Amino acid sequence: MQICRSCGEENPAKFRVCGFCGTPLAAALPAQEVRKTVTIVFSDLKGSTDLGEALDSEALREVMSRYFDEMRAVLERHGGTVEKFIGDAVMAVFGLPRLHEDDALRAVRAAAEMQQALERINVELEQRYGVVLVNRTGVNTGEVVAGDPTTGQRLVTGDAVNVAARLEQAAPETQILIGEPTYRLVRDAVVVEEMEPLPLKGKSEPVAAYRLVAVRGSEAITRHLDAPMIGRGPELGQLLDAFGEVARLRKPRVVTILGDAGVGKSRLIGEFLSRVSKQAGVVHGRCLSYGEGITFWPLGDIVRASAGITDDDSAEQAYTKVAALLAQEPLAAERIAAAIGLTAASYELNETFWAARRLFESMAGERPLVIHFEDIHWAEPTFLELIEQAVGIAEDAPILIVCSARHDLLETRPTWAQSIEGSLRITLEPLSGEEAGRIIDHLLGGADLPAEMRRRITEAAEGHPLYVEQFLSMLIDEGRLRRAGDTWVLDRSVEELAMPPTVSALLTARIDGLDADERAVVERGSVIGQAFYRGAVEELAPEPIRDQIGSLLLDLTTKHLVRPSGEFFVNEETFRFRHALIRDAAYSGLLKRARADFHERFAEWLERVAAARQLELEEILGYHLEQAHRYRSELGPLDPEGHALGARAAQRLAAAGRRAFSRGDMPAASNLLGRAAALLPETNPERLALQCDLAEALLDMGELARAE
Ligand SMILES: Nc1ncnc2c1ncn2[C@@H]1O[C@H](COP(=O)(O)OP(=O)(O)OP(=O)(O)O)[C@@H](O)[C@H]1O
Ligand SMILES: [Mg+2]
Repeated sequence: MQICRSCGEENPAKFRVCGFCGTPLAAALPAQEVRKTVTIVFSDLKGSTDLGEALDSEALREVMSRYFDEMRAVLERHGGTVEKFIGDAVMAVFGLPRLHEDDALRAVRAAAEMQQALERINVELEQRYGVVLVNRTGVNTGEVVAGDPTTGQRLVTGDAVNVAARLEQAAPETQILIGEPTYRLVRDAVVVEEMEPLPLKGKSEPVAAYRLVAVRGSEAITRHLDAPMIGRGPELGQLLDAFGEVARLRKPRVVTILGDAGVGKSRLIGEFLSRVSKQAGVVHGRCLSYGEGITFWPLGDIVRASAGITDDDSAEQAYTKVAALLAQEPLAAERIAAAIGLTAASYELNETFWAARRLFESMAGERPLVIHFEDIHWAEPTFLELIEQAVGIAEDAPILIVCSARHDLLETRPTWAQSIEGSLRITLEPLSGEEAGRIIDHLLGGADLPAEMRRRITEAAEGHPLYVEQFLSMLIDEGRLRRAGDTWVLDRSVEELAMPPTVSALLTARIDGLDADERAVVERGSVIGQAFYRGAVEELAPEPIRDQIGSLLLDLTTKHLVRPSGEFFVNEETFRFRHALIRDAAYSGLLKRARADFHERFAEWLERVAAARQLELEEILGYHLEQAHRYRSELGPLDPEGHALGARAAQRLAAAGRRAFSRGDMPAASNLLGRAAALLPETNPERLALQCDLAEALLDMGELARAE
């Protein structure tokens, strides 16, 4: 199903143009090369030369293809892309063509499962060929440049790949070594043994490595459900009201809690469930982001918990328990058992829906039932239909269905639950700065964080409790925030608060999910800034989408990524990124070459459309030209055009700096003059002049040492 961005009608997936208004449905742009943080799995067979001697070449070929097939299947099951087989090594990438927030964990799970799969096939290989394969594996995460997947060219390059290969070479037989960046992303879900840092070829510093002992969790980021819930009073009230009504009217209702990742949906629902658990039966079903047979997984969760099925039960034992749970409804029991994979029977969907309805009705027979379906943005369309149909027509049944979903849900299913009478959507907005501050206090056990730091974290986290937690744990990890007695001290200055890798994974996955046209808009906006102008995006946009920017911006607004700010800048509509972190994530995906180009062209656009306000915009113009110059010089020696760019940037910044100087604003003057000087070659006389002015500004501020 795809939604027409022009008229909003639903169209079947294979339509190329909208069947209602004729607008092209597919993205007009091909995917571009991007910078991405991916996770690489590198695995190699040990002693394969001996293997070649022991086996006939035909047998060797059979052994190897058995091995590769098995490894590929495991990797692909977790969403990895097998990039290449080099000799007897396997390299797979997690994050191509599309990023997922949990790519690192998927990679580590796949690596662990590859070891298990190998043990399994070894039994067979030993019987048939008399050989046993031994492998070792390295897993590492890092930024790479990824090619355009649609052209089949997926060349992945970058230091992260080399390190993964080196970790693999350093791994003991049958073991998995994980690099530091991967470990940071998965550590709550794994058990590891820290190794001595490894001296690796081609690396000046030894590299930290961890040996994987076990994977135990399914979530990469642990949620803190113990600390008290801050705020959310009104939303909790709405949930309690809905519950009261369901119990009173004995009619089912659906409440959907919508919000960004980490804003606190699960937390709020958890709080609500604990309030009603005395008066109602409470069951959970979680939607999984990937895996086989996941369509009815959440139903399976509910049935397994309610019938008391454990992992040790055989399929028959489990079936008996389902039959007991639905003792009055043997037909429904059969269909439920089949849906959750306990039997091989297959039934029409309608029958499964009916059976689910009977199950829920029977569970709500004695007291109200609250069903929590978690993360339904990952639910299969069929499962969403099951929810709608099972509840939509349930009768005399006090069932409250509470669903949590990220905003993506409404992108694919704008009419979700609307057919059900009294259904309610609650959008969870970020917490206020004051509330986010209280979360910090709780997490740090009441100890005082320096006020400045507290402010920086709450600002950077933009009201998302999960981000608050991740910022803190990043600072603690990096040794920048350290406990000293009753209080926390900051060891090093925190001039820069980088985005925690976990948060970055969440946000870049969101941007990676956009189609190429939308992404092109977000990227151009990200170069312009937190606020950006429609006309400027049109200027920077590639030809095929130039006349669609308006509707693309509308899409992005619906997707909760940007919002119209209601302001106008030289007659241009202004939009804002909803979160600075979204802007940052989009920006960091751009190739440096593209950043340089967009910064420069934006400056030119600004010079043109705001000619009358040049003076006021001097600093902004200088900034964009400076960035363009910077990225060009990072990519290699500058050509004359690059130097000219530096000179233009310097001229703008110098002019702004001198004006600040004459206003007596010495901090601004020294900043601007220093940047201007840095943009010019050593031999440039203007550079010397700027340095003199800079020294004067610094002297005025009493910074004698720097002035020297
Ligand atoms: N109101 C709150 N007060 C205190 N802590 C909170 C609050 N809301 C959320 N948290 C904490 O923030 C973290 C993220 O919250 P939660 O898991 O509920 O997010 P979510 O919206 O369900 O995210 P996702 O979309 O990833 O499922 C958790 O550790 C949670 O305990
Ligand atoms: Mg959640």
